[in-house]
Amino acid sequence: MPECHSTNTKALELCQQPNTPEGTLVITNQQTSGRGQRGNTWESRPGMNLTFSVILKPVFLLVKDQFLLNVITSLAVHDYLSETCKAPIHIKWPNDILVNEFKICGILIENQLMGDRFTNVVVGIGFNVNQREFSWGSATSLASVTNRTYDLQEVLEGLLSNLEARYVQLRQGHAHILKADYLRHLYRINEIHTFSADHNQFEGKIIGVDEYGRLRISTAGQEKIFGIKEISFVN
Ligand code: BTN
Repeated sequence: MPECHSTNTKALELCQQPNTPEGTLVITNQQTSGRGQRGNTWESRPGMNLTFSVILKPVFLLVKDQFLLNVITSLAVHDYLSETCKAPIHIKWPNDILVNEFKICGILIENQLMGDRFTNVVVGIGFNVNQREFSWGSATSLASVTNRTYDLQEVLEGLLSNLEARYVQLRQGHAHILKADYLRHLYRINEIHTFSADHNQFEGKIIGVDEYGRLRISTAGQEKIFGIKEISFVN
């Protein structure tokens, strides 16, 4: 669509229609109310970046394993970037993608459930491609990193084929490989840094994620577990 409020919202609407197939892509040049994680907005200059959503129907996946959807999407973007640029690329828990420690891609996954199974999943991706100036200081783009411009259609196809490959890996039951790959690329794993939780700052070391995708941090000789709204990175 030339313009759209939010491709995730549009995709969720399409999920209500009985004949919307798995793999349906909703994409726009200009998102006027892009939504981010934790109720944030997603800003993207019209026509310069990719803002799109893909509808998946992972009927094979139990709801308790939903973090694996974050894992496959983060890895797909990571895989694409590894093919495209040489700079350091990390996945910042739970699913921001960083290049040179700057955010290049945000992911918003929204689900519709029935019992313990998924009926529809909308994977929303905002990927900075050709925009080189950002109002937000810690953002970057493919063009800023590599100093050239890109054909958006080619970048889209690259991202989608990597997403399909990781989705197939999940469907084939290779969750252990996916989780190991995710941890290998996790930002600041096994390093001591400062975090903030419950209005307190503390030093700790990310040691992994638990089976629900919560962050495991070793601090003051013990392990603590944090959900998405419960912790932020300080430095
Ligand atoms: C975040 O980092 O907070 C997640 C940002 C996700 C943005 C994408 S852009 C396409 C899709 N539609 C939305 O409204 N949001 C996602």
